[in-house]
Amino acid sequence: MHVEYDLLPQSRRKSPPGRDADLGFGLLRTNHMFQMEYADGAWQNARIIPYQPFLLAPGAMCLHYGQTIFEGIKAFGHDDGEIYVFRGDLNAERLNNSAAIMCMPSIPAEVQQEAVMRLIDVERDWCPVIAESSLYIRPFMFATMDALGVKPSRTYTYCVILSPSGPYYARGVSEAITLLISRRFHRAAPGGTGAAKCGGNYGASLRAAEEAHAYGAAQVLYLSVDNTHIEEAGSMNHYHVLADGTFIIPAFDDTILRSVTSLSVLELAEAGLVKARQESVRLDDFLAAVASGAVIEAGGFGTAAVVSPVGRYCLEDGTIYTVGDGKVGRHSLALYTRYSAIQTGKAEAPAGWLQKVPRFS
Ligand SMILES: Cc1ncc(COP(=O)(O)O)c(C=O)c1O
Repeated sequence: MHVEYDLLPQSRRKSPPGRDADLGFGLLRTNHMFQMEYADGAWQNARIIPYQPFLLAPGAMCLHYGQTIFEGIKAFGHDDGEIYVFRGDLNAERLNNSAAIMCMPSIPAEVQQEAVMRLIDVERDWCPVIAESSLYIRPFMFATMDALGVKPSRTYTYCVILSPSGPYYARGVSEAITLLISRRFHRAAPGGTGAAKCGGNYGASLRAAEEAHAYGAAQVLYLSVDNTHIEEAGSMNHYHVLADGTFIIPAFDDTILRSVTSLSVLELAEAGLVKARQESVRLDDFLAAVASGAVIEAGGFGTAAVVSPVGRYCLEDGTIYTVGDGKVGRHSLALYTRYSAIQTGKAEAPAGWLQKVPRFS
């Protein structure tokens, strides 16, 4: 791919935060972004430019009908002084799946990965090397055609921005969260867009998340539309741990996002490094097993959340189910530690999991 560079002079660039800075999650921006447009059936005008607002027609279709998709990836600075992107190939594949579900054009995975790599290469100083922190990468695509009929746009913008970030939940893995199990709100319906990482799924989740907060819960654990099965949380797949240490992840279907983290845990299981499998999980069986102590730990998997243990589940009638002693369990902590060690280069990564950011210039 040919990429044009229009970089800020050093004197006009913001400096990255210091080592002691509290980064928050997704709040900081670096100096540049990657952008290209789709028109006449082709992606064109690939460039790295100063971080700046878009010029968007008020009639742009993304603003009206929600044709917008995104990804979330992390890059880590290793002790060898290099930066490594974690499983960006899987995210590129998933963006294309989301694009297919949302009638948007695909982008060859190598092009997406090169866009990410080239942008990180010019922003090397922004990759934090603090524990539990990383360079969060946000690729996204949205419809730009200025037309008000409800149909797929013929023009799109693809963009990548970066955000040096700390843990998604302020206390990271050190404190178990509470999830609200909602029978009232649903994230996705069969035949809908649940398996796409599209903006609409997240917009539709905000009301439920506000309700969760009112119950003192961090997020909602969504059920199938008939309220019989556990699906996933607002930004994480769900897991629970059986007495023998096996992680159970609800089986993917078209209402659940195929989490890169879950897929990675399942690959570790195939390699014999953890015990994990997928199966459909009935809510009543799950709650009975939490109450009886057969489920010893639970939590969520996600790029942002990594491994986030859940200590309590709250129902809308106020019933509380406590998992084990309600604290972070040893299996979740061990998995978090192993996974983070792989990401940060402290433990050997399975082949192909980490892609080194090349030096393009
Ligand atoms: C709805 C939803 N489920 C699951 C996940 C976890 O997926 P991943 O591990 O690819 O980040 C995310 C976050 O990306 C999400 O938004």
